[in-house]
Amino acid sequence: MLNEKKKKSIYLPSHIKPIKYDLLLKPDLDAFIFTGKETIEIQIDKKYEGKLKKIIIHSKDIDIETVKIVYKKNNKNETQFSERITYNIENETATFYFKNSIPSDKCKLYIVFSGIINNSLRGFYRSQYKINGKTKYLATTQFEATDARRAFPCFDEPKHKAVFNVKLIIPGTHTAISNTLPIQIKKHKFGYKIIKFAPTPKMSTYLLAFIIGDFEWIEKKIKLSGKDVSVRIFTTKGKIHQAKFALDIAIKSIKFYNKYFDISYPLPTLDLIAIPDFESGAMENWGAVTFRETALLIDEENSSLSSRQWVAIVIAHELAHQWFGNLVTMQWWTDLWLNEGFASYMENFCINSLFPKWNVWDLNLAGRYTLALHLDSLNNSHPIEIKVNHPDEINEIFDIVSYAKGSAIIRMLAEYLGKEKFRNGLRFYLKKHSYKNTKTIDLWEAFEKISKKPVKKIMNTWTKQTGYPLVTFSNLNPNLGIMEQERFFSSRISRKENKINNKWDIPILFNNQKVLLNKKINKIYTKEKILKINKGERSFVRVKYSNDVLDGLRKQIQLGMLPTNDRLGIIRDLFALAEGGYIPTTTALDFSLFYKDETEYIVWSEIASSVNRLYNIISNEKFEENYKKYVLDLFSIITKNIIWTKKSKEKHSDVFLRKLILSQVGFYGDKNTIKKAQILFKKRNKSPIDANLRSTVYNIVSRTIDNTNSYKLWKQFHKLYLDENMHEEKERYGIALTKFKNKKILKKTLDFALSIDVRHQDAPSIIANVWQNRYGRELTWKFIQNNWNIILKYYGEGGHFLSKLLNPLRNHINKKDVISAKKFFKKNIAPGADRTLKQIYEKIYSNSAWLKDDKKIIEKWLNKNYK
Ligand code: BES
Ligand code: ZN
Repeated sequence: MLNEKKKKSIYLPSHIKPIKYDLLLKPDLDAFIFTGKETIEIQIDKKYEGKLKKIIIHSKDIDIETVKIVYKKNNKNETQFSERITYNIENETATFYFKNSIPSDKCKLYIVFSGIINNSLRGFYRSQYKINGKTKYLATTQFEATDARRAFPCFDEPKHKAVFNVKLIIPGTHTAISNTLPIQIKKHKFGYKIIKFAPTPKMSTYLLAFIIGDFEWIEKKIKLSGKDVSVRIFTTKGKIHQAKFALDIAIKSIKFYNKYFDISYPLPTLDLIAIPDFESGAMENWGAVTFRETALLIDEENSSLSSRQWVAIVIAHELAHQWFGNLVTMQWWTDLWLNEGFASYMENFCINSLFPKWNVWDLNLAGRYTLALHLDSLNNSHPIEIKVNHPDEINEIFDIVSYAKGSAIIRMLAEYLGKEKFRNGLRFYLKKHSYKNTKTIDLWEAFEKISKKPVKKIMNTWTKQTGYPLVTFSNLNPNLGIMEQERFFSSRISRKENKINNKWDIPILFNNQKVLLNKKINKIYTKEKILKINKGERSFVRVKYSNDVLDGLRKQIQLGMLPTNDRLGIIRDLFALAEGGYIPTTTALDFSLFYKDETEYIVWSEIASSVNRLYNIISNEKFEENYKKYVLDLFSIITKNIIWTKKSKEKHSDVFLRKLILSQVGFYGDKNTIKKAQILFKKRNKSPIDANLRSTVYNIVSRTIDNTNSYKLWKQFHKLYLDENMHEEKERYGIALTKFKNKKILKKTLDFALSIDVRHQDAPSIIANVWQNRYGRELTWKFIQNNWNIILKYYGEGGHFLSKLLNPLRNHINKKDVISAKKFFKKNIAPGADRTLKQIYEKIYSNSAWLKDDKKIIEKWLNKNYK
């Protein structure tokens, strides 16, 4: 747990501003250390004239050898060496003390230092890979949010924008990439060369990057606003054939933004680099965007369609940041959502324009949008704009609320303002604040200026309060509807305890009418009777209908009259209302049966995740088998209509539908599907399995293997994992190892995840998958507690891994587990997972209450319908 001290403000004093950094680094890729020298030009606030004798700067895990400051006094250069250097580990700073006061003018700070090329995926770190069985290393950086300070002493806050001149001394055989292009390459001693890069634009420290390794690349020159820009994709040796798709997407996206924002991309290159070890999916360093291999590389034969789409989305996301984030940056991490929410909106907006047939907005609705609705229905969610201080707190808010809720409310605003006003507002904002920093309010003000609508007032209700509204709807008569709002909670306990009376300004669509609901109770007069509220599911709300309206909606579904998104929204909200105790669970179960003829992927995806959530609650009850019968019956018609092979003419989403349905009914025990999967697996060497179905097949096979053969199969997947070089396929084998029913085997998988054979970036998802497997639940929780020291060694430096790793604890149902977890985390720290733990506890209590309240009626319903 964070102690209160850590939560104190940790800003650097604001009277010193950096203007320019000249940075020279010499990495040693054998000893994993580096030496460095830098000159920082700083400006000191006039108020400090005659008073300034110390300088505080960010620095972490760096040895500072010497520091001197040079300035003009009486027109002469004067130099002072720092007589004492102290470090504050907690604040991640170094303080330089000087004997005489430093004049309030431009000064130059000279620092000589050394550090380590670490193994923790942040700061200046190393990544490892094999070429023909031989281990190779590359060095790379990941500075967001607060880790530039691990590579060089700096003023490591987003508001301290400066120009960076980077020079690197590297082995003659290697390539170095940074934000800009080299302007000079000179030979250096002992087979080294010295590369000098052009000055960067004025930018924040977290966007600086340098990558040194033995790379291959492909390149294409394009024109942007009449200027030459070369777009390049870099991979380690032997993988460059997987870079073509990314190059195509990068070019299309950068052209798209260049036009849409009406501001030309300021750099002469745009590099995208695949790094074998990487914490998140990708990082938007200006002009030198780094990626996980699975987020950039596509193999024409072995990559799935969802990987292709993911690669496109990630590229579009990071390239949106080149404007939104890099050119205009948040003042402080409190406004992180401006970066991430906006890029999450733009990624879909861009890909939807480039590939309209992919329907990425609909896929988003069934994906991250739904996840945001879930997370934000907990009392322990957080407002989009949130005070943060310590790096652990900062890292924690890179979550689904900042990303997906952020994106959802921007989309809601875009619909409310209309396309043109929205685009013009953005252009105005980006131009006005180029090379500067902003707060959320600056964005609202830009939209207000262009649209003349009360944007600030509306949007404050969405960014400053936690949660979102439940709109309860009933028709008083055919011409008068009542819409009432309250905060939605997925936990009936949190709902009862809630004392805050929230209200939102909700732009909402029904029939063909748009209104702004800004009262607690809203009367709506119409010419025709209202049925579906929140048409198209554009507003970030849930809706509860009165019984007669719900019955009207049922008829429309059965007559095939409701559009896809609306069908999705109705069933999604019904199951959520059941979970929150607003309606009996059996109402949702009854209603689900009207969806048996459904054909659309996104609706089925929503139904699958809803019934699976309920299955998690009841999977230890004696009526479990009846529940499985229910699910198989619900999916029976679509299962009959799905075939294992690709049809010649099918929709983009049909590929996803096939995978979803087969995985789902395979999981619930459909015999035909299981048999077919086993056959495909046996024959896979002669006839390779369609890349889109491989994980489905592997998972079914390992889940259904009998006890006597399970170790043999485990060893087979284990070997495939070790031998595989393509990351996407490797991940599939890794997940297959988590699906067994045998506990001894699952324990092997857990040990394997923490072994040297699995990259640190990949272990959390393997462990989390064993945890989600009902046969691995207790086992994994014990394993985590027993191995906490190793886990902390790997992931204890903050970041998202711990929270990802601990996430499946929220599926537990027993209140006792909260007590044991609380006890455990009182004794053991979990940096960066404070809020996650609170959410987990809230969720376990909620699960337990849901089961207690509705167990009997569910059992009765299943007995009646599925015995
Ligand atoms: N800026 C983030 C990367 C990041 C995340 C840095 C957390 C530091 C801490 C990047 O723009 C990002 O959001 N990447 C996403 C991809 C996206 C498509 C959602 C990711 O890595 O998941
Ligand atoms: Zn981002």
